[in-house]
Amino acid sequence: MTTPARFTLDPAFAVGDVNPRLFGSFVEHLGRCVYTGIYEPGHPTADEAGLRTDVLELIRELGVTAVRYPGGNFVSGYKWEDSVGPADERPRRLDLAWRSTESNRFGLSEYIAFLRKIGPQAEPMMAINLGTRGVAEALELQEYANHPSGTALSDLRVTHGDKDPFDIRLWCLGNEMDGPWQTGHKTAEEYGRLAAETARAMRQIDPKLELVACGSSSQSMPTFADWEAKVLAEAYDLVDYISLHAYYEETDGDRDSFLASAVDMESFIENVVATCDHIGARLKSKKKINLSFDEWNVWYQSRPNPHQVEDWQEAPRLLEDNYSVTDAVVFGSLLIALLRHADRVTVACLAQLVNVIAPILTEPGGPAWKQTTFFPFSQASRYGRGQVLDVRVDSPAYETKKFGEVPLLHATAVRDPETGAVTVFAVNRSQTEPLPLEVALNGLELTSVVEHTALADADPEAKNTLDEPERVTPHAVEGTALQDGTLTATLEPLSWNVIRLA
Ligand code: AHR
Repeated sequence: MTTPARFTLDPAFAVGDVNPRLFGSFVEHLGRCVYTGIYEPGHPTADEAGLRTDVLELIRELGVTAVRYPGGNFVSGYKWEDSVGPADERPRRLDLAWRSTESNRFGLSEYIAFLRKIGPQAEPMMAINLGTRGVAEALELQEYANHPSGTALSDLRVTHGDKDPFDIRLWCLGNEMDGPWQTGHKTAEEYGRLAAETARAMRQIDPKLELVACGSSSQSMPTFADWEAKVLAEAYDLVDYISLHAYYEETDGDRDSFLASAVDMESFIENVVATCDHIGARLKSKKKINLSFDEWNVWYQSRPNPHQVEDWQEAPRLLEDNYSVTDAVVFGSLLIALLRHADRVTVACLAQLVNVIAPILTEPGGPAWKQTTFFPFSQASRYGRGQVLDVRVDSPAYETKKFGEVPLLHATAVRDPETGAVTVFAVNRSQTEPLPLEVALNGLELTSVVEHTALADADPEAKNTLDEPERVTPHAVEGTALQDGTLTATLEPLSWNVIRLA
């Protein structure tokens, strides 16, 4: 039997409170995320606005909060004015980012209506185009979206049927401007100036906006850290967040390293925090810049697209990854990494929401179903609100090619300050061995195990598909006990676990 992994929970040692925005997501005009994903007029479940109510129901169950829109790489060619007004008069455009045709049938007003239908927990997170556009267009969009009325653009919105302003608080100043693939890609100095100028002008209309400057597209970018330092040197006082993006996949059959992907995510977060605080110290500023991890997921970027896609198709099948149990365990570990840094990561967006590297898949005219990754997200979003307790694991380790020695256990715990209930989220990275777990509970009035569920399977490649949409779901785990202030459990090999204590 493997030596147990251990940690201690004590409410006196907390990381910080979870901002609900940690459970954000992302809708890009990419592939079938919008068209035949969330929006499909004529679908048997479509409402009067063309929104798929079967998908809306799953999104509500997922518990997403901030929804970033409309891109992604798409935003760097986006003309917001194409996406408003009577839908059948909107122009069709080339989308250079994804070599697709954009019909603009779904636009800004539809996005806001979609969020309102998800429910009050959903809020807009609007990206502006700083690739092919600049300060003037950002201001015009802000006036159209947020100004009540009495000006040309706010009155235009009213004429278009949206009397109430959209009240968008959270704005992304461009997308991945450090990436040479980005339309209008810039150097850190160029982007830093543009972000600062745009932020300053937007704050002239509304000083209370929350603004996200673009950080690096991944920690492996050659400009990483220098980019953040230069951008913040220009914009520190004018923005609230710096963005981080990261995608992980298994390469060369190296599953052990893939299972340790969160090691990279945690070091990325810690390095960005260090860079932000370094600039803050240099500027002698009391202000702290927080982190917006506004794209994260498992994404098999190196696999060829199994679907035949021609250039300039409308809503082609792009990035439709079908996730396995293994992917869901890594995905859960990425969620644990975000929660473990909840003091500084106060916005995070799972990229993306439907069909495109997403927890929900749909067929045009057909059903919608949950991918394996749906479950860790919905469970964390439901039980991971409150105060994150400091978890320092003492765990047996294993050797990985990419990260050296890595603990088999990856874990965090969140305490609901109102009820005192605690939920432990834990991943066993071993592909073959169960991992015994012992948690000492100090100063916590916990008396019972409400439930222990695990996502694990004899077949680590098991997936949910159109033919078998419920092949993988979490199952109850027996034998988890709480006695004399110690929680004991066994974590199945390659598993994502949620242990709820009351
Ligand atoms: O989420 C898919 C793409 O990944 C986004 O458009 C881009 O920002 C990132 O490179």
